[in-house]
Amino acid sequence: MLVIILLVCVSSVKSTYLQPTPCISRNYGNGGTVCVCNCSYCDSIPRPTRTHPSQFLVYTSNLEGLRFQQSRGRFRPLESCESHVDVDSSSKFQTIFGWGGAFTDATGINIHALPKDTQEVLLRQYFSESGIEYSLCRVPMGGTDFSVRAYSYDDGDPDPLLLNFKLAPEDHVFKIPYIKRAMKLTGHKLRLFGSAWTAPKWMKTNYMYTGLGFIRKSMYQPWANYFVKFLDEYRKFGINFWGLTTGNEPLDAWVPGEKLEVVGWAPRELGTWIRNNLGPTIRNSNYSDTKIMILDDQRIYYPWYVVIALENPVARKYVDGFAVHWYTDKYDPPEALTKTQEIFPEKFILATEASNIPGQNESAVQLGSWERGENYSADIIEDVLNWVTGWVDWNMALNPQGGPNYIQNFVDSPIIINGTSNEFYKQPMFYHLGHFSKFVPSGSVRVGTEVRRSRVEVAAFGRPDGGTAVVLLNRNEEGVILNVKDSSRGVAQVKISPRSISTLLYW
Ligand SMILES: *[C@@H]1O[C@H](CO)[C@@H](O)[C@H](O)[C@H]1NC(C)=O
Ligand SMILES: *[C@@H]1O[C@H](CO)[C@@H](O)[C@H](O)[C@H]1NC(C)=O
Ligand SMILES: *[C@@H]1O[C@H](CO)[C@@H](O)[C@H](O)[C@H]1NC(C)=O
Ligand SMILES: *[C@@H]1O[C@H](CO)[C@@H](O)[C@H](O)[C@H]1NC(C)=O
Ligand SMILES: *[C@@H]1O[C@H](CO)[C@@H](O)[C@H](O)[C@H]1NC(C)=O
Repeated sequence: MLVIILLVCVSSVKSTYLQPTPCISRNYGNGGTVCVCNCSYCDSIPRPTRTHPSQFLVYTSNLEGLRFQQSRGRFRPLESCESHVDVDSSSKFQTIFGWGGAFTDATGINIHALPKDTQEVLLRQYFSESGIEYSLCRVPMGGTDFSVRAYSYDDGDPDPLLLNFKLAPEDHVFKIPYIKRAMKLTGHKLRLFGSAWTAPKWMKTNYMYTGLGFIRKSMYQPWANYFVKFLDEYRKFGINFWGLTTGNEPLDAWVPGEKLEVVGWAPRELGTWIRNNLGPTIRNSNYSDTKIMILDDQRIYYPWYVVIALENPVARKYVDGFAVHWYTDKYDPPEALTKTQEIFPEKFILATEASNIPGQNESAVQLGSWERGENYSADIIEDVLNWVTGWVDWNMALNPQGGPNYIQNFVDSPIIINGTSNEFYKQPMFYHLGHFSKFVPSGSVRVGTEVRRSRVEVAAFGRPDGGTAVVLLNRNEEGVILNVKDSSRGVAQVKISPRSISTLLYW
């Protein structure tokens, strides 16, 4: 006799999202905790509601285990105490495009392995009003190392007319369904941008996906057309793109032994291709408004690479912004970004990839690592203080090994999926990013801040609804009572716990 036991999962997530639900925490001994979610339960956070002008809200997450813990306070008179943080809402800097992650094949493969209701719970965590409301996501054009194979959209014999261009099974199964679901879940517009790792082998000088290979001169125009083909194919599914980068990490081509797929671009050649091919092709297509971002590589290459690439004024005119990755940030001062902004005041800078990579002998995934979360938020603050307009993480969901990745380049992710138990774990990185993505909507403007007699790291934003969000990161072992002064309001006295991140909100 066959006995089938059906574990019916009654989803309570949908009906309860107006109330916050607490984190079910678990400690894996890596210096912090994860929140455990399954088909019927996940901690959630409703949208903050506007407070009276005399009051403020504070959301706190910390090493000890608080997650978006809400409290309220009342502004004190301006003269009542000395301030540690001054917020100057009248001094305005860059406008924020958004925050998010990448729809890699690995993300889709891991989500796909979950039961349908758990998939829904997970996607809500990133995109819905009960989650952290991602607004800007990256979509690889073809394969990356976070795929199970290398591929482009036109493999096989040389095909300069792109007659055999077609999306991969990965797009249909692991990307498009989840992008469409995310678009439905968001209460706002989800901005997407595409980035290609490699071109078809036959377009490249070395006939390989990897290594020191460039686009052959005769293939400059087909490679530009390939971008439009990609936009055409996705549009058939109702998915439109806000932007494109000119290609992921072009300088990897020069790294000996690098196994990542890459199209190498020396800066001058990239400028030539943009001027003669990509720029006119995009601007004369149905996608003429698409933002074109260049470099899509480490901070260390700023500004020299983009200065050379855009020496030609026509190339400069076609380009909207610069894409920057985080992997060298530890070694490289953020002022390079401010310098870039000064040279190109008409363009924007967007952070387009970050992930915690394992140190020597370390496993890629460190479940619960608060420090890895801190490194995300510290980097975001450093970036936004240097003109960066948004911050986009790498894989949105990986397995406990940090993959799949066909070259074993495993890394960490804000959500780790356990395919055996059909649970997933929300890491501290999820909350550190969420302290921005949840409270600093697209269209917010970074405003001035000054910190005195405190080691707290701070960035503040004016929201499109007239509110102000101040993110306060305390990486120190000591807690502190912080006086945050906004001369238009008063002094908000905020209790900052050790190793914590808080978002202060007021209208
Ligand atoms: C899901 O998690 C909740 C909260 O931890 C728990 O009560 C419930 O039993 C879990 N459901 C399943 C099917 O594991
Ligand atoms: C724009 O799209 C329409 C409809 O798909 C198509 O007929 C037209 O040729 C496209 N225009 C350009 C410039 O590609
Ligand atoms: C890493 O492991 C190898 C082999 O077990 C060992 O020789 C090496 O010293 C370790 N390195 C570090 C930094 O721990
Ligand atoms: C976090 O950043 C600090 C300071 O740059 C660095 O020393 C540390 O190794 C980083 N930790 C992780 C887990 O990356
Ligand atoms: C995944 O779930 C299985 C089954 O419950 C469990 O044995 C394993 O320890 C879990 N893995 C992690 C990383 O928690």
